[in-house]
Amino acid sequence: MSDFDPARVEADLRAQSTGLGLPLVFVRETESTNDDAKQAARAGAPEGAAFVADAQTRGRGRRGHAWHSPAGENLYVSFVLRPNLPVASTPPLSLVAGLAVVDAASRYVPAEKLRIKWPNDVYLDGRKLAGILVEGLTAGDRCSAVIVGIGLNVHTRAFPEPIADTATSLALLAHRPLDRSEIFVALCGALEARMREHLEHGIAHTVRALASLDYLAGKTVSIDGISGVAQGITPDGR
Ligand code: BTN
Repeated sequence: MSDFDPARVEADLRAQSTGLGLPLVFVRETESTNDDAKQAARAGAPEGAAFVADAQTRGRGRRGHAWHSPAGENLYVSFVLRPNLPVASTPPLSLVAGLAVVDAASRYVPAEKLRIKWPNDVYLDGRKLAGILVEGLTAGDRCSAVIVGIGLNVHTRAFPEPIADTATSLALLAHRPLDRSEIFVALCGALEARMREHLEHGIAHTVRALASLDYLAGKTVSIDGISGVAQGITPDGR
């Protein structure tokens, strides 16, 4: 039996008054939950709506990368958020989502091994655990909706090339049993709390929360042929 049970998830979200994650649309298979959420947002889906699939046939990440999305193993979810933000303020929401993934994941794996790699990855013990894809729907210079897509590796123990040596999952380091329904409910609660804090206190506050989790800080990085040592994330999230 699958460990993602939509009826149980809905009941648990209601019981703990977590609005984010409801309404919940769960499908066995889709191309990409981000596309499903985007289409639903255009048709008026409310703040908090979540689109979850057991498998994706065209799961995608940034820069056109594919997201490994086998059935029954991991979490593939896209949330519709409707924060009242200018378009320019939406990219840092991937950092907010990263913090929420760390909050949820730290219930299952050693918290000190979790890091956020700017701008949209969560790392566990030096390997990629989760990826985040934020896409905005715009109305003039404001955002009418933001789609926050999260792929979180839960049960997969062996990854195919080219990610065989760079990806990881909760299962590879978990100190307690893993249940995708429970992890999803934790993720919804964490994202709701982190979004509330972010909207109340702003990006500088979010960046401060990230400081001790910054995967790149102190590492040599190369961008457009220029190399240097990453000093950290700027207060505006760059
Ligand atoms: C990345 O690493 O570049 C981001 C990966 C994001 C993957 C998630 S899985 C759920 C949602 N649907 C998608 O097609 N992509 C995101």
